[in-house]
Amino acid sequence: MDRGSTEVAEPWWRSGVVYQIYPRSFCDTDGDGVGDLEGIRRHLDHLTWLGVDALWLSPVYPSPMADFGYDVADYCDIDPLFGSLDTFDALVAEAHRRDLRVILDWVPNHTSDQHAWFREARSGPDAARRDWYVWRDPGPDGGPPNNWVAAFSPSPAWTLDEASGQYYLHLFLPEQPDLNWANPDVRSAMHDTLRFWLDRGVDGFRADVVHCIGKAPALDDDPPEYVPLPHCILNDRPETHPMLRDLRRLLDGYEGDRMMVGEVVLLDPALVASYYGRGDELQLAFNFAPLHTAWDATRWRDVLTRTQAELEPIGAWPTWVLSNHDNPRHRTRYGSTARARAAAVLLLGLRGTPFLYAGEELGLEDAAVPADRVVDPGGRDGCRAPLPWDASEGHGWASLDPWLPWPPHSDRLDVASQREDPDSMLHLYRRLLAVRRGSPALVRGDQELLDLPEGVVGWRRRYRDDVRVVLVNFTAGDVAVPGVDGTVEVSSCPERRSTAAFDATLGGDEAVIVRAGP
Ligand code: GLC
Repeated sequence: MDRGSTEVAEPWWRSGVVYQIYPRSFCDTDGDGVGDLEGIRRHLDHLTWLGVDALWLSPVYPSPMADFGYDVADYCDIDPLFGSLDTFDALVAEAHRRDLRVILDWVPNHTSDQHAWFREARSGPDAARRDWYVWRDPGPDGGPPNNWVAAFSPSPAWTLDEASGQYYLHLFLPEQPDLNWANPDVRSAMHDTLRFWLDRGVDGFRADVVHCIGKAPALDDDPPEYVPLPHCILNDRPETHPMLRDLRRLLDGYEGDRMMVGEVVLLDPALVASYYGRGDELQLAFNFAPLHTAWDATRWRDVLTRTQAELEPIGAWPTWVLSNHDNPRHRTRYGSTARARAAAVLLLGLRGTPFLYAGEELGLEDAAVPADRVVDPGGRDGCRAPLPWDASEGHGWASLDPWLPWPPHSDRLDVASQREDPDSMLHLYRRLLAVRRGSPALVRGDQELLDLPEGVVGWRRRYRDDVRVVLVNFTAGDVAVPGVDGTVEVSSCPERRSTAAFDATLGGDEAVIVRAGP
């Protein structure tokens, strides 16, 4: 099926839009209250209808679920909670039949403490795989070897192994010991895990906290002014880059534009830029500065300017993401449906690859999770609430009791209700995805920030004679925006008719895509 519209094929990961699925929360078909691979397979037609190009699945490997799958006990299998290798293969085959790519979450920095490698490493200082993890003797005071802080709680990134008297490193939970990537056997074993899935036909990987795999050999203390920031947001080491080049060579050895998007949790676009290497490291890297930018024109203009200034000169293709499974949803952060609708226009109008987080196309807010239902050690349950597929009591899930509570207004923000309503958030996303796909300027054009009245941020996208202007009003009131001529192709505001000439005024919290020309 030909779903492309540009003349010369771009790699899919540049032209496409990626849709992140948090499998536990997508759709449960076996009645255990947790989403599964079959639930994803059943809704593939919906995703094609929506118009996304690729699915990223958060981890589905066997796991004790201390971090809901980001603690991997076996990189080369599927947790029975989600299905089996057979159901996975069926999902990939059916996705590919619909021209949907599938990328897996790959967790290279750490395993589960239940992974066979760690169990062996922990068996004693002379274990064959002892050095696959990072072990150190206690510091001079008998405490942890350095001052690194783990994520999720301000506690040391080290746990004492009583039996050997040594500490092991974990930048996340104690159940997530860090692998020692300085050891070539670790690198080679981890490369094999990639090959396992590439051979099965997956199109690429989202590499979890991949900026953390290289560590300073001396494991020096973090500067005291940064403590208690978790070490995982500070780790930015030259040792990581040759490792990324190896990964890139491995991917490039396969046919079909296999890709890796790295989760680089360094909140400065200048730091993120270096993870693209010279076009020989990550194809894409997440740039989280925008996700942490408030609904404010000055701040957004600044983050767009900085991102462009850092990435464009080195030919690095940007990524854009407003929501994911680790942060409050942007509908919740921005505080209104109008803003969330405008944010959708913003996200899908930018130059680069957008990543959507399942449920943002429904305008879902975070669920309010009562204390007795909190399950995540990182406080992220709210954004991981289950997706409502219809307005019935069970919302299209096989269990009436999903693992987390439903998000607010699930009986009107459900997929079925929104599919019936042409003014819904879901239809806005669908329209935006179609408009994007149909415009070479939006898919691959350049991007020039415009000088606009206060409170408004906008840019021109151009590819040959195809031109679009994207305008976002970050204020609550009307703003006159003279000098932009053309037809409104899509507006975040349901009251504005698209295909009307742009009347040089934006409503409060409105964003539009204007097709230049008469
Ligand atoms: C990444 C994941 C997050 C996980 C952490 C540890 O930040 O997105 O969900 O908890 O890595 O693997």
